[in-house]
Amino acid sequence: MAEGKKDEDREPGASRHGNFINYYKFHPADERVRQLPQGVWQLRNSDRKYSALDVGCNAGNLTIELHKFLQEQLPSETDVQILGIDLDPILIERARESCSNPAINFECLDFFSEDRKNVLSDYLRRLKSTEFDVVFCFSITMWIHLNYGDEGLVKFLEDICQVTKVLVIEPQPWKCYRNASRRMRRSGEEDFPLINKLKLTGEMEKHIERIVCEEKRRFRQIITTQDNNWGRKILIFERI
Ligand SMILES: C[S@@+](CC[C@H](N)C(=O)[O-])C[C@H]1O[C@@H](n2cnc3c(N)ncnc32)[C@H](O)[C@@H]1O
Repeated sequence: MAEGKKDEDREPGASRHGNFINYYKFHPADERVRQLPQGVWQLRNSDRKYSALDVGCNAGNLTIELHKFLQEQLPSETDVQILGIDLDPILIERARESCSNPAINFECLDFFSEDRKNVLSDYLRRLKSTEFDVVFCFSITMWIHLNYGDEGLVKFLEDICQVTKVLVIEPQPWKCYRNASRRMRRSGEEDFPLINKLKLTGEMEKHIERIVCEEKRRFRQIITTQDNNWGRKILIFERI
C-alpha cells in the first residue's frame, strides 16, 4: 500500500450504484476526455446551439471537461449546453457547488424515475430543441445492468437512443461486475440480487453494440476507441 495515503484514496470501496464519493481521485476527468476522437462532433442545427446530456455524472468533473472539449471541437460561435444527471443528491450538490458556468447544469434524477421524461423534455424545450445532439454514458451501464438486469439494460439503451443523435458509451467490462459484487460481499452488504440471473455476460461491448444497432433503432456504430489505461473502450454511435 502506498504510504501517506488515506484509505478512501486507495480503493473506490463498495457501492450499489457506482455513486463513489471520491471517483475522480481514481479516474481523473481530463485524462478521460483525451481519449475522445476528434471530428465526430458536428453542429447539425442552424441555431448554433449544441446540447449534450451526461447520464450518471457523479460529482460533475467529467461533465465540466466534456463541455470544454465540445466547445473546443465545435465552431467557436457554438453555444454548447450540457446537462449532467445523477441519482445521488450529495454528488449533484457537489457538482453544482463546483461549477458556476450557466451552460452547465446538473439535476438529481434517477434515469428510471417517472420524472425523467419531463425533466429532459423541459430542459430541451428551454433550448428550443426536441432531442440532444449527444448523450454520454460513461461507466454507468454496469450499474444499470446490475440493478435492473438484462431487461433494464436494454430499456436504458432503448430510451437513450430515442433522445439523441449521437450516443457515446463507455461500458464496464465483465470483470468489473465480479469486482463490484466482491466488494459488496466483502463490506458485508447484500450482493446484487440479479447478478447470477444475467444472460448478457462476457463481452459487454458486443452486447451493447448489438442492442444499440438493432435495425429498429436506426443507429450505426461509427467508432470504437482503443482500451484506455484502465481497460475500457469508448463506443460511438450515430442515428442513420
Ligand atoms: C461510476 S460512476 C461514473 C461517473 C461518470 N459517468 C464518469 O464516468 O466519470 C456511475 C454514476 O452513475 C450514477 N448512476 C447509477 N445509476 C443511475 C441511474 N439509474 N440514474 C442516474 N444516475 C445513475 C451513479 O450515482 C454514479 O455517480
